[in-house]
Amino acid sequence: MKSSARILVHESRGDEVISRHLYGHFAEHLGRGIYDGIWFRRDGKWELREDIVEALRRIRVPNIRWPGGCFADGYDWKDGVGPLDSRPAIVNSIWAGVTEDNSFGTHEFMDLVERLGAEAVIVGNVGSGTVREMAEWWRYMNHPGPGPMADLRKSNGREKPWNVRFWGVGNENWGCGGNMRPAYYADLYKRFASFLHPIDGHWPFRIAAGPAGDNYDWMEVVLREAAKQIDGIDLHHYTLVGNWSKKGAATGFPESEWMELLGKAYDLDGLLRHHIAIMDRYDPEKRIWLILGEWGTWHEVEAGTHRGFLHQQNTLRDAIAASISLNILNCHAGRVKMANIAQTVNVLQAMVLTRGEEMLLTPTYHVFDLYTPHHDARLMSTSVRAPSYTLDGQTIPSVSASASKADDGSFHLTLCNVHPHVSIDTSVEFPSEVSDYTARILTGPEMDSRNTFEDPDAVRLEEFSIEAAGTGSATFLLPARSVVAITAR
Ligand code: AHR
Repeated sequence: MKSSARILVHESRGDEVISRHLYGHFAEHLGRGIYDGIWFRRDGKWELREDIVEALRRIRVPNIRWPGGCFADGYDWKDGVGPLDSRPAIVNSIWAGVTEDNSFGTHEFMDLVERLGAEAVIVGNVGSGTVREMAEWWRYMNHPGPGPMADLRKSNGREKPWNVRFWGVGNENWGCGGNMRPAYYADLYKRFASFLHPIDGHWPFRIAAGPAGDNYDWMEVVLREAAKQIDGIDLHHYTLVGNWSKKGAATGFPESEWMELLGKAYDLDGLLRHHIAIMDRYDPEKRIWLILGEWGTWHEVEAGTHRGFLHQQNTLRDAIAASISLNILNCHAGRVKMANIAQTVNVLQAMVLTRGEEMLLTPTYHVFDLYTPHHDARLMSTSVRAPSYTLDGQTIPSVSASASKADDGSFHLTLCNVHPHVSIDTSVEFPSEVSDYTARILTGPEMDSRNTFEDPDAVRLEEFSIEAAGTGSATFLLPARSVVAITAR
């Protein structure tokens, strides 16, 4: 089946830039994300996996949020520094009760971040930690010395401070981070944030724990009480089929669940608009960043894996959900300046899955690859006229798109066809005389096409052909179930 769509890319009215930090990641001490994921035991010794580092460098990971998640509000950072054999083994009581040997701590995480050329987003412990502990961690990472924390860092082998700026003051403090009321958290936030003192002109970028999904009251109260001391506020929102007690499967799902998940992915737009409207009342100058610090699809775990490890497969449907979400985030670039997909390796909507020494890239990884030209590019607005996709009385747009303009004048358009069966004859018009097009596509034969260790490249990027159709416009057939990125010069 075929139908047709028309996409117009307009010069933006403002000069909003799509922050590269919208393409951030999240790595928690959870399941096989860190241990037996990025941190691998070979010949009796722990090491960072070079193949994963290399893969993440290719998608230009701009930041990683760490050490949690819920893990953060139980974490004592001093357990994770110093000689390995003197680090205590503890119980990771929030995630499956496994032994945490603390071999991956501050230095190892910062090594990863530096190897990626990324920035760290540290989440401090408000729920069970003290103001002093958090302030000392901030100084350990950032004070040049002399001073007790800088001296400790140097004695642990790192002379220069890391100059970390992004600093989360707790995580989900309405839930696993302490089950607090928003007014109580706002007071605690101000107390903890007050002791993150600037060091030699290096200021913390202080991130308050934001709400889950549509808890607008949390956003309202925290901003009302603490907006002046907040630089960013960290909203969390996951996309799932069914509900938290009975989620859908990652693979082998019916079309009704394809529709349900992707329909919910579109809901991010309304959610952001609502939170942004609240933020605009307390911060009309748009100083405070709205951060989507955890997002992505959340399915039932893979058969045979521990429930507490949150290990799921990743299919073309997850890739299209990511494409819809990233298009929405791009379009809100004026207020939303950072986002972190959960989670980088082996957990939830991961970029990379591993099995022993083997590694594969997921369809979602390829979407992040397709979207790299948007990093720090100027947002262009788009209007999309496309048929709807309807199933069992539910209707959603079949095409989602966003666009940007790079410093060299080239345009970048990313779009997806959400329809699982119908290809769309598509025409695109750019606002100036472009004539040279290059494009890549991600698609697959099934709604749950995926990569496995037996067939790791089943879903991969391929060159895609675009026809110039007069000055500044192009046409192509946008296949069903696909994500496409176009560069026009
Ligand atoms: O990403 C998994 C968990 O989801 C995080 O630890 C928590 O912050 C959220 O509820």
